[in-house]
Amino acid sequence: MISLQDVTKQYPDGTVAVHDLTLEIDEGVICALVGPSGCGKTTTMRMINRLIEPTSGTIQVNGDDVTALDVQELRRRIGYVIQNAGLFPHYTVRKNVATVCRLLGWDEPRIADRVDEMLGLVDLDPDTFGDRYPHQLSGGQRQRVGVARALAADPPVLLMDEPFGAVDPIARERLQDEFLALHQRVRKTVVLVTHDIDEAVKLGDRIAVMRQGGYLEQFDRPAAVLGFPTSDFVADFVGSDRAIKRLRVSPIPDDALGDETIEPVPGVIEVPVTASLYDLLAATLQADSGVARVTPSGKAVRVGDIDRLMMASRP
Ligand SMILES: Nc1ncnc2c1ncn2[C@@H]1O[C@H](COP(=O)(O)OP(=O)(O)OP(=O)(O)O)[C@@H](O)[C@H]1O
Ligand SMILES: [Mg+2]
Repeated sequence: MISLQDVTKQYPDGTVAVHDLTLEIDEGVICALVGPSGCGKTTTMRMINRLIEPTSGTIQVNGDDVTALDVQELRRRIGYVIQNAGLFPHYTVRKNVATVCRLLGWDEPRIADRVDEMLGLVDLDPDTFGDRYPHQLSGGQRQRVGVARALAADPPVLLMDEPFGAVDPIARERLQDEFLALHQRVRKTVVLVTHDIDEAVKLGDRIAVMRQGGYLEQFDRPAAVLGFPTSDFVADFVGSDRAIKRLRVSPIPDDALGDETIEPVPGVIEVPVTASLYDLLAATLQADSGVARVTPSGKAVRVGDIDRLMMASRP
């Protein structure tokens, strides 16, 4: 769906922000671009919707070279959530959300309907919030307006630059959960920039780890990046607790469970087989009996089994 081939961006002052980057992002996938400040994440993102022109290389969206497309047409296909929400301060919430639809020349009744629908989608009541200005919203509400604005013209591609960056950790968790639920409903191809590896692991189907100078270090599933970092830089970046992090994104390998089954009795916590290894470990640690029961099979799992199961669930 989005394809970057040998893309380099050198700014006029000589700074190489992105170095020979090749990346394939499939339709409907959330790709998290992650890395330290200044490693070229925003530059990469802004080249996709041509707010920045690459120095060399090609970028395709849905098979079309972006440089061959009319910019207006390109931006219709691509929603953009700007770092720190980037709302127009002198526009109301309604007017902010309507921006792209208005650019596209939709008639007013259609825009009004769409704006209400989008605000509903991000859980903001249009009657309460529609006529407010951005300074009359909380940080989290502003972020949601930013998401509603990006989705309004129903683009198949969504670029999100640190969309949940400016809010406290609890609001951030909630926004992340809401975003994942939203993504289940409106399957967009998403490129999401973050410097937070936990956010990347939680939201990304794929993670691209970048390093200073615009180098791509690793591009893989979260479980693979955590389980098998391909360089010291990545191992360092994902953190010394990467084994625990990987538990959260590792499914329970059903066929690697032992043969012992147990009855559902008090003191034994039940864990559905669709849960993560993290949930399973938590249940074994918490149960007085030291045993968890995987449903529906009724297989017994103890703390000591987790290591073996992790090996079995290697990506
Ligand atoms: N217009 C510009 N001219 C020169 N250098 C620039 C320009 N814009 C960005 N850079 C440099 O390019 C590099 C990458 O910047 P970019 O904004 O893509 O980083 P980032 O990964 O998004 O960082 P952050 O996490 O801080 O947002 C940085 O070294 C930055 O200083
Ligand atoms: Mg940035």
